[in-house]
Amino acid sequence: MISKSTIDAVFDAARVEEVIGDFVQLKKSGSNFKGLSPFSEERTPSFMVSPVKQIWKDFSSGKGGNAVAFLMEHEHFTYPEAIKYLANKYGIEVEETERTDEEKELANEKESMFLVSEYAKKYHQDILWESPQGKAIGLTYFKERGFTPETIKKFGLGYALDEWDAFTTTALKEGYNLNYLAKTGVTIVKDEKRFDRFKGRVMFPIHSMSGRVLGFGGRILTNTKKAAKYLNSPESDIYHKSKVLYGLYYAKQAIAKEDNCYLVEGYTDVIQMHQAGIHNVVSSSGTALTADQIRLINRLTKNITVLYDGDAAGIRASLRGVDLILEQDMNVRVCTFPDGEDPDSFAKNNSLQDVLEYFENNVKDFISYKASLLMEVAKNDPIKKAEVINDMMSSISKVSDRIKQELYLRETSRIMNISEEVLFATLAQLQNRDIKEANKKTTQEKKAFEVIKTEKKAEAVDVQYVLERKIIEILLLYGNMEATFEDLILKEDDEGELKMERELFEAKVFEKLYLDLQQDEIDLANETFKAIYYSAIEKLNTTGTLELDTFVNEIAPEIASEVTDILMREERYELHNWEAQNIFVKTKEETIAQLTSETILSLRCFLINLKIEELKLSLQQNAELEKLQSVLEEITNYISLKKALSEQLKRVL
Ligand code: CTP
Ligand code: MN
Repeated sequence: MISKSTIDAVFDAARVEEVIGDFVQLKKSGSNFKGLSPFSEERTPSFMVSPVKQIWKDFSSGKGGNAVAFLMEHEHFTYPEAIKYLANKYGIEVEETERTDEEKELANEKESMFLVSEYAKKYHQDILWESPQGKAIGLTYFKERGFTPETIKKFGLGYALDEWDAFTTTALKEGYNLNYLAKTGVTIVKDEKRFDRFKGRVMFPIHSMSGRVLGFGGRILTNTKKAAKYLNSPESDIYHKSKVLYGLYYAKQAIAKEDNCYLVEGYTDVIQMHQAGIHNVVSSSGTALTADQIRLINRLTKNITVLYDGDAAGIRASLRGVDLILEQDMNVRVCTFPDGEDPDSFAKNNSLQDVLEYFENNVKDFISYKASLLMEVAKNDPIKKAEVINDMMSSISKVSDRIKQELYLRETSRIMNISEEVLFATLAQLQNRDIKEANKKTTQEKKAFEVIKTEKKAEAVDVQYVLERKIIEILLLYGNMEATFEDLILKEDDEGELKMERELFEAKVFEKLYLDLQQDEIDLANETFKAIYYSAIEKLNTTGTLELDTFVNEIAPEIASEVTDILMREERYELHNWEAQNIFVKTKEETIAQLTSETILSLRCFLINLKIEELKLSLQQNAELEKLQSVLEEITNYISLKKALSEQLKRVL
């Protein structure tokens, strides 16, 4: 873990406008900066950076946050990676803490393995470009494949001399530890002997999402049947094949920007397509696609286009992998190439425009594609056909969107010439089986209860969401402000009658919010709002103020985006240059007390209504007289409370 003091130092030093300025061209605009959104294609700037608040907001994509959030979005760094990047930029030493000795050792070990891998990449690049053998064999080979020098450099391609231990000997001489050379697999240690694993091969470094070298693929240059075409680094503490996609480091920004990811089979497919100008492409490198790999893509886009080489047997084998993509709720499309072509050859032999046009005309929705393909296999064989239908419906059952599911089913019915009723029945069977499995733990009754509850919630969510958001907005923007509030208090008059009486009192806005919500034991339903609410209240309670720029840095990144969204609202006005057009947005400061009361009261009324509805429902379900009595009583109480609140609300309005 990075120490708290390092993180504090980083936040102290980092200026959001400087950090973003390295990636986006920013222009001064009033007290802010603006520029073109790096997250979408646009001609008029909708990307704002506020040096005062130390936050940014992209109005085209809705993203926003502080400097760290920007790096996480734009560079796809993890939180620690972003902190380390900033530390490096501002010359701050990173202090790590709270690690057990074991963790430290593993971290050091991994760090050493990364260093060895980085060195191996550099070494093999040098050999490729500088040594006579490298130039004559390796470089010539890459050039023959059509790779330009820029491409070869960009992907860090290299060459391993055709000698038993040329690399290992040099690495040891340079002070690298044999232990780590062996652990990363670049060196094979047998008894007393050491061999270079990739001897005589061209080298494809495999990078992590953030650009660290994890391992290598090495391609043989001769056409012998004896040795495998590719040798890859073995699994290690830093290289987990199932969690890595080749090319992702170079593709991540384009994937997010294009909102689509092309999935190909090999290293050379990635490189060739990239060189052709299609940058949103990654490869699973010959292994079957895993759920972890899909998750990597899922962080960047919901859309995958699988590009298959020509042969049908291979395609059928990989259909299963695609179900994994459907399970993660992603949209899958497929495109096949003319016989004998793969993405590599196709991108090499056609212009960019032709390739894109080909995709446009030949990309098919996965489900329809699968149905046609399977249909061809099963054609006149009824038994096979039954199998194929089950297979098909199993894919469709993975799609969680009900509307899509139905559309797919109709399409399948058409392609396979099976009635929709039969397909629906098959689907229901499959889903029943799935539900039964999911239900094994929970009892049936509990499930039924949950259904009722969530249905009620879904119906109610909008009003509640709006009100809760308003509460957060008030808290963040005006929490610290003093205002005069009016309360109705129950008092006994001279004759002993209970009466509502007005009372004015001074309080800070956040105190009023907190006390009112606490009094009714109201918790915000929206988890993000709830988190922001408690962070802000705590800050106000302990320090008495809420400095927005530091507050954004202290809260969790997941909720920071919502906060910046609220804080940047004023900047949106500026973006439209409304003031220049003489449209002034009325400040809320004057009426803040009213706004606060109004919002809380509305939320309370809303929740009481919800409660009453709930009780009415239980009234219908309860047969016992005794219970009916108490439920009725409760309802009556709530109704009178509602009346009181409504009256109060009317006064405020
Ligand atoms: N692969 C592998 N080991 C092999 C064969 C293939 O790891 N013995 C992986 C590689 O990642 C390779 C991918 O599977 O990139 C696809 O294999 P293939 O299509 O045979 O290779 P290409 O990348 O197309 O290589 P080339 O065009 O040079 O033949
Ligand atoms: Mn190939």
